[in-house]
Amino acid sequence: YKRVTVKSLTEMKKNDEKISMITAYDYTMAQIVDHSEIDVVLVGDSASNVMAGHETTLPITLDQMIYHASSVIRGIQRALVVVDLPFGSYQSDPKEALRSSIRIMKESGAHAVKMEGGKEIKDSIKRILKAGIPVMGHLGLTPQSIYKFGTYTVRAKEEYEAKKLKEDAKMLERIGCFAIVLEKVPAKLAKEVAESVSIPVIGIGAGGGVDGQVLVIHDMLGMNKEFSPRFLRRYADLHTVMTDALKQYKDDVKSQKFPDENEQY
Ligand code: KIV
Ligand code: NA
Repeated sequence: YKRVTVKSLTEMKKNDEKISMITAYDYTMAQIVDHSEIDVVLVGDSASNVMAGHETTLPITLDQMIYHASSVIRGIQRALVVVDLPFGSYQSDPKEALRSSIRIMKESGAHAVKMEGGKEIKDSIKRILKAGIPVMGHLGLTPQSIYKFGTYTVRAKEEYEAKKLKEDAKMLERIGCFAIVLEKVPAKLAKEVAESVSIPVIGIGAGGGVDGQVLVIHDMLGMNKEFSPRFLRRYADLHTVMTDALKQYKDDVKSQKFPDENEQY
């Protein structure tokens, strides 16, 4: 395999090749993702929701993110692996942000970190970049500040919010971030942002005018029955596939159809 690097992503944007990105949280799923030749794997703090069952991303710890990231890294040969800095691991000051990022890089072997926010965290991003760690930004809907907004509805519909978002994106490019995730903002605005910077803008619920797309793997494989926002396309119905298989197994055990003579020693 030719490894995907932060440089290849910039090249892809230049060549008008869209970037595919998906989340993963464990070794087996990471292997499947890598065999599918997805460009970027995000060890998202959405693990807090889909792996641990929390309502928000706030409870997941740095140690837990490192556990997920190191599991994912062992399953990846090709993709670029980016890890979310979880809530509470970078907001205090640049030193804390750097310390947390170094822990992720050393203890998991990941290739880059991602963090939510614009100018509020500028100094922390600069400190991490100075240490040679690639940083991916995250603007628009930032789930770690859900209690500031109160809802997960579309962001930057107001002119002043759109203006700040555009300024933040330019700033992230200027200080040296290699890409930006843009979550749940109007497609027109997302396109404008993507066209205003040379680094890739990877959207989720941000329309087709950006440089790539990211989805949560459990959602796009249809493992979550309840979660169905408009932006989500389900590429499989694994919930049905898996419950059918499990019910069949249960019935076979009860009726003694499993195991048969060939499935024993
Ligand atoms: O944690 C996550 O899964 C994310 C993506 C939705 C971008 O941050
Ligand atoms: Na995240």
